[in-house]
Amino acid sequence: MTGVTLRAEPVRPGARVLGFGGHQPAKVVTNHDFAAVMDTSDEWIRSRVGIVERRLAGPDETITDLAVQAGGKALAASGLAPSDVDLVIVATCSAETPMPSHAPAVAHRLGIEAPGAYDLNSACSGFCYALAAADAAVRTGSARNVLVVGAEKMSQWIDQTDRSTAIIFADGAGAAVVGPSETPGIGPVVWGSDGSAPERIAIADRTSFIRQDGQAVFRWATTAIAPVALAAVERAGLVPDDLATIVPHQANLRIIDAIARRIKATNAVVADDITRSGNTSGASIPLALAHMIERGDVPSGAPALLVGFGAGLSYAAQVIQIP
Ligand code: UT7
Repeated sequence: MTGVTLRAEPVRPGARVLGFGGHQPAKVVTNHDFAAVMDTSDEWIRSRVGIVERRLAGPDETITDLAVQAGGKALAASGLAPSDVDLVIVATCSAETPMPSHAPAVAHRLGIEAPGAYDLNSACSGFCYALAAADAAVRTGSARNVLVVGAEKMSQWIDQTDRSTAIIFADGAGAAVVGPSETPGIGPVVWGSDGSAPERIAIADRTSFIRQDGQAVFRWATTAIAPVALAAVERAGLVPDDLATIVPHQANLRIIDAIARRIKATNAVVADDITRSGNTSGASIPLALAHMIERGDVPSGAPALLVGFGAGLSYAAQVIQIP
């Protein structure tokens, strides 16, 4: 039959983040711990990557465990009950198994009954992609409130004897609850990808570990990502000096500094969570923000620029209002 008109939900004026939460495993691994077992040094890691220590999950600690802890804290911060949430998105690139996805189990363990639930893999930019999906779901009426989690157990895909990756990647989770708002609290996402050289950061097959062409990714991140971030600021109707904070993916302190220098946001606190958390891929942005909010580094209502980039290659940026 032709000519039917489908009904759509009325579009809401905006969505915003209502609360953040972060969680890390208890086990701290310092640079000195690595230097004791491989040819590296605290000085090399601090000066080339910026990491001082990171957290690694134990053998029985799963991505779902990490996501449930972070998700529970974000829910508590939002003031909502589990029954208020009807969509759960877990951004992860380090899944223990290809199926089922983690989101249904995360929801179940948090007491969120029968939500839409799916995992999303866009590696280190995954949280920004998931936040854009949550924003759209709330504004178009597909969901009332959304739990978005970035959760990674990178350590299970790392050769712990490979000094070029073992010292970098770490485990953790960060989460946000997104709900409706009278005015937009999540700006337009600027995203994209370049699939011409997927091997630059990859796990080649199911018996392999993460390998990356560090220098090539470094060059790309320090040249291609600042313009994406600046476009996200412009699309949100702001200028860099309006930003209270910049939260780039926590890949390398030198990359973070290079991106921040090009954005020239004179009033912004730049996230440096990598120093204590390492590179937690899709978890790094919400984990950094949760830590900054806990410490009182960023005022409620202030604009924060989120910038994800990584394997794919893929990238995404948007401005949000701090809850
Ligand atoms: O999160 C996903 C996105 N990923 C990224 O954004 C990663 C981007 N790339 C980077 O952050 C950096 O390229 C790395 C941190 C991965 C590497 O730093 P680099 O300054 O680019 O070092 P390099 O790979 O050029 O290696 C320089 C030297 C090499 O030795 P030779 O060949 O000069 O003798 C490496 O073998 O440093 C050596 N090296 C190390 N030395 C001590 C590599 N890893 C280590 C180590 N300790 N852990």
